[in-house]
Amino acid sequence: MNLRALAAKVAFQVLEKGISLSVALPDQQKHLESGKDKALLAELSYGVMRHLPQLDKLVSDCMSKPLKGKQRIVHQLLLIGCYQLYFTRIPSHAAISETAEACRQLKFEGLVKVVNGVLRNIQRQEKPLPTDNDTLAFNTPSWIVKRLKAAYPENWQEVIEQSHQRPPMWLRNNKRSQTRDEYLAALAEIDIPASAGKSSDAILLESPRDVAQLPGFDQGAASVQDGAAQWAATLLAPKDGELVLDACAAPGGKTCHLLELANIQLVAVDFDEKRLERVQQNLDRLSLDAKLVHGDAADIDSWWQGDKFDRILLDAPCSATGVIRRHPDIKWLRKQSDIDELAALQSKILDHCWQWLKPGGTLLYATCSILPQENEQQIRSFLERADDATLIPISEQPHPDDIGWQITPGTENMDGFYYARLVKG
Ligand SMILES: C[S@@+](CC[C@H](N)C(=O)[O-])C[C@H]1O[C@@H](n2cnc3c(N)ncnc32)[C@H](O)[C@@H]1O
Repeated sequence: MNLRALAAKVAFQVLEKGISLSVALPDQQKHLESGKDKALLAELSYGVMRHLPQLDKLVSDCMSKPLKGKQRIVHQLLLIGCYQLYFTRIPSHAAISETAEACRQLKFEGLVKVVNGVLRNIQRQEKPLPTDNDTLAFNTPSWIVKRLKAAYPENWQEVIEQSHQRPPMWLRNNKRSQTRDEYLAALAEIDIPASAGKSSDAILLESPRDVAQLPGFDQGAASVQDGAAQWAATLLAPKDGELVLDACAAPGGKTCHLLELANIQLVAVDFDEKRLERVQQNLDRLSLDAKLVHGDAADIDSWWQGDKFDRILLDAPCSATGVIRRHPDIKWLRKQSDIDELAALQSKILDHCWQWLKPGGTLLYATCSILPQENEQQIRSFLERADDATLIPISEQPHPDDIGWQITPGTENMDGFYYARLVKG
């Protein structure tokens, strides 16, 4: 099937069915043979998610009435067409004719003329990208813009701008296989330019690569993990012989990092059985071992009769607003009402995990959110209700008096993340 038709299917799945891009895209990519085609399908799908309000406005302005019901996929196809005209170097005539052909292949023969007409109009008018309100100007829902303005009064525009950049590819060196310097040398040998990140195992690639090109990837020499996410295991700093809980573990990036750092007994729990399978796959590739539990981190008593834990990583379910640059569909899948629900779930899990931490133990609270309600405010209220909790500042945080370390997207090339390190007194 024509690549634009596949791209329309991806956009339809995400925008009409609420399926995440990371599921919908690979589902359609499998119909394509060449890496180049797969990359173009990704570019069109990501591009539409990044620029949705502006594309929507340009397309809707050229239509006499909106497409509804089953025909919505043709609307998504028009977004794909419009994206090509504004944001790619694909010649306009090719973009338009391929998109019209896609309409035929999607079995909307009767709308081919509409697709042709709308895209020709858009091309002829050459209107500037609309910026009439915050949603349009920042290609971000107004409720998110409003919260970011309040949270980052001095640099909210920069935060949004960074959330629209293409993210770099980070690797995590597996120190059980080789030192980071040795892995950097192995990359240099095959002309993959890369540099060391600030945390102990992080490597930043100059440009993204297929993992198949990375030395020893299948044997577990390295993993793909953002630089911000790599601080989790480093900050929790497990020691040999300790009993550690990874309370929201799937798909297991941080689980594996913890096990690479020390010889610990690790219990990794997640609510989602399907995602837990990915933890096992990651452990297998890296030849690591953990006790996996399909269970609720807010009800540890129901599945654990062992000792309390020396250390707990609580990488809580969150809005994921810090990783919009990697998952631009988050902007459209998340609803404002989700934030209160997530914050309530986070505090429930946090309170319960705290009961299972040994006196003197450390709990690291982490999210990939940039909203204070899930981060600083969450920890501030926890400290008010838990009188045996002490917040230990993180040396990397720019202001030692802040409640935790809020990383904004793009800081030192990292995703947006939040960390708070708590010790039980
Ligand atoms: C941010 S993700 C974790 C990412 C993971 N730590 C990693 O580094 O790969 C949050 C996880 O929390 C899980 N989750 C949500 N509610 C949970 C609960 N009540 N108990 C356990 N896991 C839960 C979700 O299924 C999801 O996999």
